[in-house]
Amino acid sequence: MARKKIIAGNWKMNMTPSEAVALVETLKPLVVNDQVDVVFCVPAIDIIPAMEAAKGTNINIGAENMYFEEKGAYTGEISPNMLKDAGVQYVIIGHSERREYFAETDETVNKKVLKAFEYDLTPIICCGETLTQREQGITIDWIRQQIKIAFLNVTADQAKKAVIAYEPIWAIGTGKVATTEQAEEVCAAIRVCIGEIYDEPTAEAIRIQYGGSVSASSAPELFAQPNIDGGLVGGASLKPDFGKIVNYK
Ligand code: PGA
Repeated sequence: MARKKIIAGNWKMNMTPSEAVALVETLKPLVVNDQVDVVFCVPAIDIIPAMEAAKGTNINIGAENMYFEEKGAYTGEISPNMLKDAGVQYVIIGHSERREYFAETDETVNKKVLKAFEYDLTPIICCGETLTQREQGITIDWIRQQIKIAFLNVTADQAKKAVIAYEPIWAIGTGKVATTEQAEEVCAAIRVCIGEIYDEPTAEAIRIQYGGSVSASSAPELFAQPNIDGGLVGGASLKPDFGKIVNYK
């Protein structure tokens, strides 16, 4: 069975609630495409208003992060059940900016992934190498390690529903997109790794996105690769160009 493409915007720390509503209104008519899953991952405070604005459309409103506990004394955090109750389906886990600025590790990523599945949320699990790692030729080793720890104790049935976003850190927000060959090579290696942890059907089912300076011009070639099932898009998801990325064909 062919995997359905999933194209997600990552708004990062942009857009006030009223700006979020305006952006959803602008993008609404541009992102119509029933061949792909369309997700806008927005700041927590924008989730409810963005969802209201997206009602009746094909847009799924997702979250950019969550904590791995249900409730309690964790000032400032958002729990999986809060997201679930708000009607969220997708949540980005372990974005490289969370790892870099908020001290997230492969271990906390794993805890969050397990918790997301417990609440029937679909994690978009991020992985990616630094430029130094790429230059040292350890990209695949590094990514395999990130994947293996992220999926510790995750069942095959859960893994089949997961989304992985391969995002080379040197390509994020830099305008320096990975070449199609580089992106496909790593996404293929991730699929092999999932096959090793689980089995062939799981490797075939899991969706793997590429992220890092995806634009309307780079999307068509990237998304045509056999192991790239869509994209996680930062900068370009805040512009009408996102409509072109969603309708890349
Ligand atoms: P970018 O961000 O498209 O602006 O490079 C991608 C991401 O961080 O998810």
